[in-house]
Amino acid sequence: MATGTNKGTPLVEMRDISIAFGGVQAVDHVTVDLYPGEVVGLLGHNGAGKSTLIKCLSGAYQQDSGEIFVNGEKATINNPRDARGYNIETIYQTLALADNLDAASNLFLGRELTTPFGFVDDSKMEAETRKIMGRLNSNFRKFNVPVSALSGGQRQSVAISRAVYFNARILIMDEPTAALGPQETQMVAELIDELKRQGLGIFLIDHDVHQVKRLCDRASVMKNGQLVGTVNVDDVTEDDLLAMIILGKKPEELAA
Ligand SMILES: Nc1ncnc2c1ncn2[C@@H]1O[C@H](COP(=O)(O)OP(=O)(O)OP(=O)(O)O)[C@@H](O)[C@H]1O
Ligand SMILES: [Mg+2]
Repeated sequence: MATGTNKGTPLVEMRDISIAFGGVQAVDHVTVDLYPGEVVGLLGHNGAGKSTLIKCLSGAYQQDSGEIFVNGEKATINNPRDARGYNIETIYQTLALADNLDAASNLFLGRELTTPFGFVDDSKMEAETRKIMGRLNSNFRKFNVPVSALSGGQRQSVAISRAVYFNARILIMDEPTAALGPQETQMVAELIDELKRQGLGIFLIDHDVHQVKRLCDRASVMKNGQLVGTVNVDDVTEDDLLAMIILGKKPEELAA
């Protein structure tokens, strides 16, 4: 799915990032970047440091050293609010949705729309939710039921539409399909394609190399906290990706 060579300024550059927990060097001098309209897969074994790396971008952790640039300018991200200020939104595997509320109430949770008299404007919120869902997942119909009644993929749609509604330009997805069946996974894959078309940049953590080949433009592989390398997914096979993940083979060591 590569879209050719990247030119211009990356949306995000994480440069030489390191972070340790006690004696564990979770992320060790890692550099990755992300361009508009691009999906970059982050791959690696359990404990490789993928989630820790992206948590430095989402503001959950602060790196010990290294710098983050957003649109070419140095960014200071000390907490999730700072990250939002840079239009960075994160979709976690365990979605923070309020089960007893419907899609619109979840979309606007904590950021409710109000009437000029200060009342919560339910009909405006539902109209806005229908509008954004129409753009992202036009098959979505379950507007008036609690999200506990939605499938995993539909719940992902709600979380993604919330991020997009609030102007995410940079989306971090940490194993968004880990708990989903094949059809639901397909729904999320189509959503990711749509977000790409709309010019967002996405960091996608995923263990499935087949899915990475299908969805990502580039893949950055980590092992033991270090970056093994970054490749265009069209230049490598699934076995190449596995060799990078399991053996730590560098891109230049892969058979041409
Ligand atoms: N809050 C923390 N406190 C202590 N150690 C941590 C913390 N978070 C992560 N680690 C350690 O940092 C290393 C990297 O963990 P991380 O969660 O980033 O891996 P991962 O690549 O996301 O793995 P997985 O595929 O299992 O999600 C691991 O050794 C982990 O035990
Ligand atoms: Mg993880």
